[in-house]
Amino acid sequence: MEKKNLDWANIGFGYVQTEKRYVSNYKDGAWDEGVLTEDANVVLNECAGVLQYAQTCFEGLKAYTTVDGRTVTFRPDMNAQRMFDTAKRLEMPTFPKERFVDAVKQVIKANESYVPPFGSGASLYLRPYMFGTNPVIGVKPATEYQFRIFTTPVGPYFKGGVKPLTLCISDFDRAAPNGTGHIKAGLNYAMSLHAIVSAHNAGYDENMYLDAATRTKVEETGGANFLFVTKDNKVVTPKSSSILPSITRRSLMVVAKEYLGLEVEEREIFKEELSDFAECGLCGTAAVISPVGKIVDHGKEICLPSGMTEMGPITKKLYETLTGIQMGKIEAPEGWIVEIK
Ligand code: PLP
Ligand code: COI
Repeated sequence: MEKKNLDWANIGFGYVQTEKRYVSNYKDGAWDEGVLTEDANVVLNECAGVLQYAQTCFEGLKAYTTVDGRTVTFRPDMNAQRMFDTAKRLEMPTFPKERFVDAVKQVIKANESYVPPFGSGASLYLRPYMFGTNPVIGVKPATEYQFRIFTTPVGPYFKGGVKPLTLCISDFDRAAPNGTGHIKAGLNYAMSLHAIVSAHNAGYDENMYLDAATRTKVEETGGANFLFVTKDNKVVTPKSSSILPSITRRSLMVVAKEYLGLEVEEREIFKEELSDFAECGLCGTAAVISPVGKIVDHGKEICLPSGMTEMGPITKKLYETLTGIQMGKIEAPEGWIVEIK
């Protein structure tokens, strides 16, 4: 497969329009058969449900070129399941999971020339999403929807690649108890924009959100879960019903336990404990694992012993093992790697 002539090594995390996208419409209680199209624009009625009451949700996953030149994607069934769960919570129709995986395969195949070559450090990001399309003016769910998947080649989510990040503990809450923090609803991101702009303006890379009820426990950032490493090399991640169940984080916990032989624990993590950890990382499809060097709590600096110049040793092993699995260098657990043929 001839690749596009892009500057793969220097590509950022942005939108580059590729050739084909997948579209399926829902009307009269059923999804149509779906098509690949070259039309990158969506034309909507002025009163569409998504425009009025933000009835929209999304997913994110990546396609990679392996060391032996195959095109693969990572655990698309998990994204299918999470979008299914999200749609239910938002009173949207569910997109059948096997059709989701099939659409992922179709759209990668159709844009294979945009899947960055092995070793470039870039990948093809897929954005499946769904939104209410028919006019809705009373507050109620739409009855017509569109499901789409577009692709865009991407590099690192955080500028500076693997340079450790500085976070601030946010005064804003990301998700309410019994709210929508555990699903991938567009509204969670809309309400985080002011918080992220404020953090950036104050010189921070990202926010650390605390639990809204007590503001004592660590939740996540706007787009990634946390992993911490204790001084005796245990990998710990926050347990909360209001954070997004990250596929990367769940995979890394398996990698830590099964591949690296480390003890792992999912539990509540208190803000007061932060200074006890040896390493901290943000994990997600976009973030992969991005190391955190410093967390600032209203002027009080918590400096991770792993420092501000490179990833901590356990974070690095986790990163190398996960990306090794994704790039076909390390044998994957059953079902994690789906080849695009
Ligand atoms: N948390 C939030 C709020 C996210 O938006 C994402 C991105 O998808 C993640 C965590 C990481 O999830 P995943 O590893 O499934 O990409
Ligand atoms: C992803 O990691 O896929 C996400 O959706 C995070 C997003 C905030 C870029």
